[in-house]
Amino acid sequence: KKVLFVASEVVPFIKTGGLADVTGSLPKYFNKDEFDVRVMLPKYMAMSDEYKSQLKYKAHFYMDLAWRRQYVGILEMEYEGITFYFVDNEFYFAGTVPYGNIYEDIEKFAFFCKAALSSLPLLDFRPDIIHCHDWQTGLLPVYIKDIFMDNPFYHGIKTIMTIHNLKFQGIWDMKTVKDITGLNAKFFTPDKLEAYGDANYLKGGLVYADLITTVSESYADEIKYPFYGEGLDGLIRARQQSLVGIVNGIDYNEYNPETDPFLYQNYNAKNFRKEKIKNKRGLQEELGLAQNDKCFMIGIVSRLTDQKGFDLIDYVIEEICTEDTQLVVLGTGEEKYEHLFRHYAWKYSDRVSANIFYSNERSHKIYGACDAFLMPSMFEPCGLSQLMSLRYGTIPIVRETGGLRDTVVPYNEYESTGTGFSFHNYNAHEMLNAIRYAKTIYYDKKREWNKLIDRAMEVDFSWDKSAKRYEEIYRNI
Ligand code: GLC
Repeated sequence: KKVLFVASEVVPFIKTGGLADVTGSLPKYFNKDEFDVRVMLPKYMAMSDEYKSQLKYKAHFYMDLAWRRQYVGILEMEYEGITFYFVDNEFYFAGTVPYGNIYEDIEKFAFFCKAALSSLPLLDFRPDIIHCHDWQTGLLPVYIKDIFMDNPFYHGIKTIMTIHNLKFQGIWDMKTVKDITGLNAKFFTPDKLEAYGDANYLKGGLVYADLITTVSESYADEIKYPFYGEGLDGLIRARQQSLVGIVNGIDYNEYNPETDPFLYQNYNAKNFRKEKIKNKRGLQEELGLAQNDKCFMIGIVSRLTDQKGFDLIDYVIEEICTEDTQLVVLGTGEEKYEHLFRHYAWKYSDRVSANIFYSNERSHKIYGACDAFLMPSMFEPCGLSQLMSLRYGTIPIVRETGGLRDTVVPYNEYESTGTGFSFHNYNAHEMLNAIRYAKTIYYDKKREWNKLIDRAMEVDFSWDKSAKRYEEIYRNI
């Protein structure tokens, strides 16, 4: 079967979040004899020259979108055995970052969806399935059921909509969206694109896709209820027969402490007791923290947004940053959290390090160096950082929600089981208790802590298992 992924970001070409990790790694893990999986994404100006220079011209045409007549270029690249198609248009994709103001993005991704579909007859690749990811591709399942239905080429192509984050839906006023998209007026009703008086791209995708998936089983369940449903829980309930939760994996070749070129010292499940500590030393030195092998080191690599539970951290940060703890933060986001960590890095410069930027290399160093990794999310469709942490034997401390709940087994000291520490309610002191509990095990029961690392490094969240589940739905759709 032929499958085309369509997504707004894909590693290594362009990334703002976990979505890109998934769309960049999952396609590599399908059985090549049975599935030809290719990927289509925008050709952003922001993409590095290293990749731009490898693009090959494939085709071009002009397409109407609202009152504009737009150039659509299709470029192609083979990368690590996968064919990638890039949609080129300098009016829409010239920004230094993939996303801008929502009113720009609304038109940009209407263009992207329509251009993706329009380009298919020129590709010598007619997909049996188009696999869409998040709101930026929500209009694609709608378009294919509208203006493209006059053309027999499109008959029988199935669509899958994967929700990586239900919070982002692509919402704008109906009249503008009607004008921009050129979609038939009949689509703008509450059982279709309309939601709470506006037009909603993701909702369109969820209504019209043949199948909906999301990135963990728990999240698939949670979004049926108002707390996690982001206003669409009714629709999710209505479509629950067509909803599947499949947990994400990570690229086990890229995230491998034994071969990772970014680490100060490579290690594996056998020698971590002696070798992992060299990463802590290296990071302490590089970041100017106190040189202390023993000190409990907590890492955070994250977008600094409310979703990730930073208001909990804010509430008890003084209690977290005690003398026997070092805290290393990497990421950007809401200003109040950037300031929070900068302030504490100034106040406790020997034990708090605020890295308010994004660096892939530094993230690997943090996964390698820290003892624990903190991720107290309010909601978490899957979460990838906890999987990376487990792989590096860095013990996750998480809230029991979504993918965190499905991938981190809470430590049980009586049975000596589990791979991390967790808490249930969205409450700062519950989180603090989990951190303190982790610290007592780390400081007082070193052998138990090492056994936690043994178990963490043993679990398998490579893509193999989850890719098989996608193959199953591709077969049966
Ligand atoms: C989004 C979600 C995250 C998930 C990722 C990839 O970034 O917030 O939980 O892991 O998408 O699916």
